[in-house]
Amino acid sequence: MTDIYPLLPRVANTAYVTTAKYREWYQRSLDDPEGFWGEQAKQYISWFEPWDKVLSGGFDRLDVRWFQGGKLNAAYNCLDRHLQKRAQQPAIIWEGDNPNESAILTYKELYDRVGRLANVLKRYGIKKGDRVCIYLPMIPEAVIAMLACTRIGAIHSVVFAGFSADSLKNRILDAGCTLVITANEGIRGNKAIPLKENVDKALRDCPDVSTVIVVKRTETLVPWEHKRDMWYHNLIAEAQVECSAEIMDAEDPLFILYTSGSTGKPKGILHGTGGYLVYAAMTHKLVFDYHNREIFWCTADVGWITGHTYSVYGPLVNGATIVLFEGVPHYPTAARYWEVIDKHKVNIFYTAPTAIRALRREGDEWVKRTSRKSLRILGTVGEPINPEAWEWYYHIVGEDRCPVVDTWWQTETGGIMITPLPGATPLKPGAASWPFFGVEAKIVNDEGAPVPEGEMGNLVITQPWPGMMQTVYNDHERFVKTYFETFPGQYLTGDQASRDAEGYFWIAGRSDDVIKVSGHRIGTEEVESALVSHAMVSEAAVVSRPDPVKGQNIYAFVTLKTDAKPSDSLKSELVQVVRDVIGPIAAPGYIQWAEELPKTRSGKIMRRLLRKIANNEVKDMGDLSTLANPVVVEDLIKKRNKSEVE
Ligand code: PRX
Repeated sequence: MTDIYPLLPRVANTAYVTTAKYREWYQRSLDDPEGFWGEQAKQYISWFEPWDKVLSGGFDRLDVRWFQGGKLNAAYNCLDRHLQKRAQQPAIIWEGDNPNESAILTYKELYDRVGRLANVLKRYGIKKGDRVCIYLPMIPEAVIAMLACTRIGAIHSVVFAGFSADSLKNRILDAGCTLVITANEGIRGNKAIPLKENVDKALRDCPDVSTVIVVKRTETLVPWEHKRDMWYHNLIAEAQVECSAEIMDAEDPLFILYTSGSTGKPKGILHGTGGYLVYAAMTHKLVFDYHNREIFWCTADVGWITGHTYSVYGPLVNGATIVLFEGVPHYPTAARYWEVIDKHKVNIFYTAPTAIRALRREGDEWVKRTSRKSLRILGTVGEPINPEAWEWYYHIVGEDRCPVVDTWWQTETGGIMITPLPGATPLKPGAASWPFFGVEAKIVNDEGAPVPEGEMGNLVITQPWPGMMQTVYNDHERFVKTYFETFPGQYLTGDQASRDAEGYFWIAGRSDDVIKVSGHRIGTEEVESALVSHAMVSEAAVVSRPDPVKGQNIYAFVTLKTDAKPSDSLKSELVQVVRDVIGPIAAPGYIQWAEELPKTRSGKIMRRLLRKIANNEVKDMGDLSTLANPVVVEDLIKKRNKSEVE
């Protein structure tokens, strides 16, 4: 029996949603989605023109449209409409990697800077529908760049600054970006990240990019291409503030964000404007019970969906004050997060289980030396949180005063889908709990039939919701195939889950070949093709292996070419190849040499067996009768790798 934590009166007394209200609104949101979402859209967003129809189309024909005919602008909703009341209120509290560096940008200052950059973009030929790549560290310019794009109707494609030049290149090409906004360097954990150098490398193969705008984050000099590269500060200094907000259709695209799947290259997830913003704002307010003037800190980088929805759009639409943190949880010490919470009086804190596990490991003293008395709500996202980490977060970090909202969602879903609501949901450590309003979630077996209570199955969503992706950029067929082919008429999440007698959802993890390493989503096939790009490698197969801090780690089986000799230095080279081709986040933790990979007679790699070997579950290997050469498996078991690559 799991512990269940009752509602905390301190939060419940002022929360927007109570248990009874949750049930009532949830039912209404399913019975009358148009009525329900129409009301929300009016409440959360300022529209230039109202919509003709709240929701049209459906999952059967995949012709879903939200707020068709409605006109709005995202930057206007995040900035202009707040100026009357909030001009002098901080919009962004920026905390640098170095604890002595921080800055505040009020709503008026943010508005001014966005207007200037928007005018610069226009001057360089960017117009509605054009794609702009943003490759920046966590500095205010990242938010400014996103909003400057949306102000003029350009579609931004933010690429996480930890991705390699190669990954950046592929994303620029796929989205057809013509302008890149970057910095000379990034700084994280006192280490420099050569962003401009990566851009230079990437652009060797991107002939359509004619302009690179470079923020001067450090004093380091970088090579310069005079016709193409411009300093951000010079351009801004000359630009006008006034820039009218482009009138966008609700269904016009807002941004592309790449994410990994089980197969192929990362997909460009395309999000629209109207539905996404309504969903971002509403989930931000209700899931975090955000009250006026509270300080909201989501630690996610803007390079990920969590950063888009809960570091930028959701909170800014709601007129919130956000903390934007450039650094890492361990620098200069393991007390950094908690010190930042005290320094900026953070009320709501949202982070990933991997950070919680890593900090828990450092001991309670780092937490206890800080006060954290401003904290009211805690949140987690990105991977399942194990009950031990949850309890530590709740008791030690939150001192039993703050509900923990374990929020399940995906790049594709645009916003939080399954979550407790503070004040409404009694908490069960490790459960993402109840579906958000308008979300009809089911668990089905591989044939698509509902599974009994408590049993594991495939998590699917059966009705459209406003935050949902529009398509895969430039590849609608892939959208249909990936998400709607397995169970026609239902959105396939790719996650395994169960639901208990009280309707709580428990998310177990991915059911496909996606690995979550420290909450980062990595496709096994991408890592395999990076490994195979090394001249000595003949074949590679990648599986996941549980890790006490990262959640999962990457375990690679590698077959070398006949003339190659296995060695530790070759292992390091292979790790380096993956870092270069994808980025450090995809570096394999384990590499095992394999004379041969276990394959079926038709030549398919039997990953099920490899997973068992990597996880040391070798007592029962299951049915081996389809294996072409069973000796291979015994050999791999004998040589299983116990230690991580240096
Ligand atoms: O497996 C689920 C896991 O993260 C996946 C989505 O990854 P991404 O698109 O990168 O978005 C992450 C941030 C929204 C999901 O398919 N996941 C996310 N949140 C949770 C989770 N698994 C368990 N519990 C969660 N709260």
